[in-house]
Amino acid sequence: MVQAQAAAPRKPAGTVSEPRRVLPAFSPELKRELEPLYARVSHVVTPMEWVHYAPLIKAINELKRERDAVILAHNYMTPEIFHCVSDFRGDSLQLAKEAAKTKAKVIVQAGVHFMAETSKLLSPEKMVLIPHLEAGCSLAASITADDVRRLREAYPGVPIVTYVNTSAAVKAECDITCTSSNAVKVVESLGAPRVLLIPDEYLSKYVATKTKVEIIAWKGHCEVHERFTADELEAYRKSDPGVKIIAHPECPPDVIRMADFTGSTSGMINWVKDKRPKKVLLVTECSMASNVAAEVPDVDFIRPCNLCPHMKRISLEKIYDSLVNLQYEVTVDPDVAERARRAVERMVNLTN
Ligand code: 13P
Ligand code: SF4
Repeated sequence: MVQAQAAAPRKPAGTVSEPRRVLPAFSPELKRELEPLYARVSHVVTPMEWVHYAPLIKAINELKRERDAVILAHNYMTPEIFHCVSDFRGDSLQLAKEAAKTKAKVIVQAGVHFMAETSKLLSPEKMVLIPHLEAGCSLAASITADDVRRLREAYPGVPIVTYVNTSAAVKAECDITCTSSNAVKVVESLGAPRVLLIPDEYLSKYVATKTKVEIIAWKGHCEVHERFTADELEAYRKSDPGVKIIAHPECPPDVIRMADFTGSTSGMINWVKDKRPKKVLLVTECSMASNVAAEVPDVDFIRPCNLCPHMKRISLEKIYDSLVNLQYEVTVDPDVAERARRAVERMVNLTN
């Protein structure tokens, strides 16, 4: 009965401003056609869920061709987005670099707003779309351009490095951006004895353990990573002493101290692929383990499941709406854009 209902042409829920296209039915032909894609996600997507996803995946992939669009997906996207509709996948730095070089006319950012803004800065002539307007970030919300101007006054002559998890307005007030994969390198590239590294307090503390440069931090936190605790990890390690713990640098310092490896989301993925631990605990947003699990079937994942509510606003339905209606276009004030672009390009050139 569920199959019969789902097989009828269906319109997905969502807000749209023009008549909706009708999605293809979940027919035996469609099922067969998308079999190779299902094989990539069958470890985490049930056949019932696939009945719902497959028509959207088919429609999105057709719309991408019609619109000359690419989908840039962050490592935290759910597997049906990450493996079945995205053109490029990666951490913040990799996605920024892809945005700078894609030839497509339209970029759909399957990630959060600051990532879409970064794409717009690096590809100003392209149309950049974010499928949900509320896909924000607690770090980006923790600091404003005014705050940075006040910091400049309070610390004259001290260079300011901003994590890319900030608004374009904040980036415009800073000397250079960094991501979790290159923060130490960026800080050291400035040749200064003291550097302000904003807004993630824990990333700053982590960087301070890796460099002789004095780091001055802001009090922003990632609402996902700040929830992990050393006690929680201790309990996992007690019950399984062989488990490898790998953590994102947005985690609190006592969590990072317990980790066998710390790195960006792609750094963590590469570490698992390379080292092939028997059992690994990923201390980060939990969709990532689902995305990498199929590629390393010999690795057993423990996923203390913290979800990023902002990343999870991006769904197949929202991506479909975004491509049908070309919504929601991300724009940046030209004066802000010019200064923010300088800070982002300085980072990209440094790490190219
Ligand atoms: P990465 O650059 O490591 O992908 O991190 C982005 C992010 O938002 C992590 O929470
Ligand atoms: Fe921001 Fe944390 Fe979500 Fe990444 S996981 S987008 S840092 S709130």
